[in-house]
Amino acid sequence: MHTAHPAAALRAYEQPTSWRERLAARVDRWSTSPALYRWAMSSLLTRWVVRRRSAQLFGCMAGFVHSQVLLACVRLRLLETLLESPRTLAELAAQTGMPASSLQRLLDSAVSLRLVNRRGGGRYGLGALGAPVAAHAGIRDMVEHNATLYEDLRDPLALLREPNQTQMHTYWPYTPGQAAPTPTGSSSFSRYSSLMATSQRFVIDELLAAYPYADHQRVLDVGGGMGGWISALAQQHPHLQCALFDLPPVAALAAEQLRQKGLSERVSTHGGSFTTDALPTGADLVTLVRVAHDHADATVLTVLRAIFASLPLGGTLLLAEPMANEEGLSPTDPYFHFYLMAMGAGQLRTPQALSALMETAGFTHIELAPSPMPLHAQILVGRKSRHRATAS
Ligand SMILES: C[S@@+](CC[C@H](N)C(=O)[O-])C[C@H]1O[C@@H](n2cnc3c(N)ncnc32)[C@H](O)[C@@H]1O
Repeated sequence: MHTAHPAAALRAYEQPTSWRERLAARVDRWSTSPALYRWAMSSLLTRWVVRRRSAQLFGCMAGFVHSQVLLACVRLRLLETLLESPRTLAELAAQTGMPASSLQRLLDSAVSLRLVNRRGGGRYGLGALGAPVAAHAGIRDMVEHNATLYEDLRDPLALLREPNQTQMHTYWPYTPGQAAPTPTGSSSFSRYSSLMATSQRFVIDELLAAYPYADHQRVLDVGGGMGGWISALAQQHPHLQCALFDLPPVAALAAEQLRQKGLSERVSTHGGSFTTDALPTGADLVTLVRVAHDHADATVLTVLRAIFASLPLGGTLLLAEPMANEEGLSPTDPYFHFYLMAMGAGQLRTPQALSALMETAGFTHIELAPSPMPLHAQILVGRKSRHRATAS
């Protein structure tokens, strides 16, 4: 990695090459001056800006504590308890076995984070942000799973230096450098597949709302996990014939889930690897949900080319996953950047970067479908043009 020498960096800073950089350099000096701070605090209007920025910076510093407050609430099943009915401190202390004095601090913190709120008679109830956590096991599972990520993040510099020496890396058995799956190793496939199944619920609702599936006849879901998405699609659109492709241990788990839902006739399962095996043909719509971001560009291109080859002329690819904000200003981006780095070869990409990969694989007419909740996933749709039979 190239690191500029501080003196060289300073020279570059002192010799701005454009008016934009000269202006930015002035603003940097100006905004770090103690005189500006004193001046800004003296006026009502500018004081508001300073307060807002200070609160934002404090949020950056305190984010770890916030996530630990949430984790403690989840581990104590506090929010589910408050969903049943509001409780007093004494009742909660008796129920959780925690000393009342420390539980009081957790509750005060949870109130300020709006996970919990204060009700009459000294009782605590469910807060606005606590309600979805109490209602969705998928969120609670992710909060618990994040504890592994945060262990890896204890020393952020060590993670940046050696991103493959992480617990997250071993959690995901298909990341590069992992041993081939063994019969005992296959339990790691069911572990991550169950986590994906619970967290997929939010994405499913968006996918169902965002695209007109009635125009298609056969759908193949690549990297479909335990089949939550393809089952929901088959149930919502009874005219569709569906198929799921995933690694053999995961495809076997999906087959069992589909059997239990009575969908085996309408949804076939196929075990294989999209890096080495051809995909089943016959589908006029292929979906790739939360898969590309797990992999390096070269692997994503291999998958996209395999999908392109499997589609008929006029066929469609729908790719959905969390995507980076083009201006780099989304508060959710840091989470995905670090998660995917700790996981292995993956990457959070902008819609533009993913569109470029799709285009390289041969897709045309690529567009971003409107997504009501881009936090969970944004949706790109591309076509295998009838006028261009071969990929570049
Ligand atoms: C992050 S999970 C997403 C699962 C599901 N689409 C969802 O949104 O919940 C990625 C999926 O890709 C599958 N996968 C990873 N590498 C694969 C490969 N080489 N061939 C086929 N599937 C693969 C994994 O087994 C896993 O089910």
